[in-house]
Amino acid sequence: MPTRQILVTSALPYANGPIHLGHLVEYIQTDIWVRFQKMQGHRVVYVCADDTHGTAIMLSARHKGLSEEQWIGQMSQQHQADFAGFDIRFDRYGSTHSEENRQLCEQIWARALEQDLIAARDVQQLFDPVENTFLADRFVKGQCPKCGAPDQAGDNCDKCGHTYAATDLVNPVSTLSGATPELRSAPHFFFQLEKCRPVVEAWIDRPGSLQSETANYLKGHFLGDALRDWDLSRSAPYFGFEIPNQPGQYWYVWFDAPVGYIATTLQWCREHQQDLADWWQNPATEIHHFIGKDIVYFHTLFWPAILHTAGYQLPTRVHVHGFLTVNGRKMSKRDGTFIRGRKYLDHLPPAYLRYYYATKLGDNQDDLDLNVSEFVEKVNTDLVNKVVNLVSRSAKFGGQTGLSATYPADDGRFEYAAAQGQAIAAAYEAGELSKAMRLIMELADRANQYVEQAQPWKLAKDPQQATALRDTVTVALNLYRQIVIYLAPVLPSLQQQSGDLFGQALTDWNLAQTPLLGQTIGTYTHFMQRLNLQDVEKMIEETKLENAAALANATPATADATEAAPAAATDTADALLAEPLAEECTIDDFVKVDLRVARIVSAEEVPEARKLLKLVVSLGGDQTRQVFAGIKAAYNPEDLVGRLVIIVANLKPRQMKFGLSEGMVCAAGGGGTEVFLLSPDSGAVPGQRVH
Ligand code: MSP
Ligand code: ZN
Repeated sequence: MPTRQILVTSALPYANGPIHLGHLVEYIQTDIWVRFQKMQGHRVVYVCADDTHGTAIMLSARHKGLSEEQWIGQMSQQHQADFAGFDIRFDRYGSTHSEENRQLCEQIWARALEQDLIAARDVQQLFDPVENTFLADRFVKGQCPKCGAPDQAGDNCDKCGHTYAATDLVNPVSTLSGATPELRSAPHFFFQLEKCRPVVEAWIDRPGSLQSETANYLKGHFLGDALRDWDLSRSAPYFGFEIPNQPGQYWYVWFDAPVGYIATTLQWCREHQQDLADWWQNPATEIHHFIGKDIVYFHTLFWPAILHTAGYQLPTRVHVHGFLTVNGRKMSKRDGTFIRGRKYLDHLPPAYLRYYYATKLGDNQDDLDLNVSEFVEKVNTDLVNKVVNLVSRSAKFGGQTGLSATYPADDGRFEYAAAQGQAIAAAYEAGELSKAMRLIMELADRANQYVEQAQPWKLAKDPQQATALRDTVTVALNLYRQIVIYLAPVLPSLQQQSGDLFGQALTDWNLAQTPLLGQTIGTYTHFMQRLNLQDVEKMIEETKLENAAALANATPATADATEAAPAAATDTADALLAEPLAEECTIDDFVKVDLRVARIVSAEEVPEARKLLKLVVSLGGDQTRQVFAGIKAAYNPEDLVGRLVIIVANLKPRQMKFGLSEGMVCAAGGGGTEVFLLSPDSGAVPGQRVH
């Protein structure tokens, strides 16, 4: 096969928080694909960088009493150490706050201006006079302009479902400082995406650019209407690059962030005396982006348009993955499942997580669950019992006998595994990692079967059987060696240890085609320990305690910048403080509320509402109710079906934008991800009243 030239990227992590196990899905997935391609002998460059600009980062630095440069410098160090700890090996790790990036942004901007793709318009926006910053919608709260409900977010109302602009809120309040924002007008620059529609559409339709679910999502959600102009600028104060000739106006972080892919490639090129055009303006070079499903819009509509405008190659493929849940729930600080990469590394080896994720990943956007008991089970069953056991049972005899000079009869096992190399490679190439792992484990089963039958430990007891022993060990170790080569993209540490044992670097995929013969074998030391559930539980327990402490001190800005972080005020260690007890009521007041046990029969997302799930619950018999519940951030719809809950059954039905709501589901917690549905003990049945 001819050598391919491949540029690969993972999304640039925000320089505003630590790398956690959710991020690592992506970086591990990409690193595996890159290592696989390198083992094929292709020319591959893998770049990534910290995404350093934006309001959240500016505010974090401010609250820490650091300059932005100091803050992003610290984050970059931490991120790189964490990535290295997980054996994620970039060819270059950069920063969007670099001179190369600024220059490329200026060049791309100039081309967009030349092609008349930028429109200037004044925008009215809320400004926080205490924090001295314009407020994004998520930093504003107020009364719904339609129904008057208090405490509503800057873009839509929880109560009536109305969507609006933050400037329409009645009595708006800045969530950063609590101040009343002022209305200010500022000039903004918009990218006219609709003008690029033909190029973008052609790219989306080109086979290979996208997984079909991504293409369908774009067609269903965006391409049906005119593509909206994209507001590419922000007014001072802002941490970013100032727009040339526009003092006080900055590029929005999402403009300069993807340009960071090119800027980091440029840094790599300078370091290696290469030509940037060979990587970004060469139709023979493949460009592969790996991203999560939350940032599809930026990478598949806006980014191709920008690349085309600036005269760069469009991506060969954008690989989109789903989100990590832990034990079936979104990652949560309260549950201790918001686990930092560093915390994991303090307790467990990276190989376990790399393998586990590989068994869960395919070429799709399905969310994947880190189930703690399954994690322990897979590591022990597959890696320890099947793979490492092969070498641990044969290596010490191999150390005594060495390998035979010719390959012994093995019932075609080596040949079969060599032939399987093609199917395994095809699975890696397609991003079907779980399939690749299944095929490899099947080879491990066959190899173990061989060792069970041949029983080298018995042969070793009989000096007459020296030749038989050497032959057996030669087969077992060669079958093991094939497996390690196939697993090498996932388990570089095992690749290294095994390479040392064999005295041969196992860095080339094709080595699996020919056995290693006539060779002495090094000394085997334990390659991998069994994983104990307690070690995982300890890590989660520690995370829980640290998160509780951190949450008590969180500022809204840092809480907002970190995924799944709940509103700071309601998540202090002592929830009662945040929500004082309600007024006294009598028994008569209480019985007016008809609380009933109900079973969730269906649950689905409401695409137009960020927080809501649509539930249908059964009250027994043929009585069902449709209920909208603000629990989307905390629960996956699939996990809810069948569950018993408590509902307010006599709540007056309310017409919402998405349909009629005929009740209310009872839950504790402060909202966001901190929602805890109430369920009766088992034995309760739908329709029973709560007294
Ligand atoms: N800075 C942007 C990307 C800019 S790319 C030009 C960003 N950063 S992020 O830190 O929030 O996320 C980085 C990547 O990690 C994204 O692709 C995101 O989808 C992924 N993930 C973050 N949390 C995740 C999970 N819980 N599960 C799986 N992937 C997750 O977005
Ligand atoms: Zn409302």
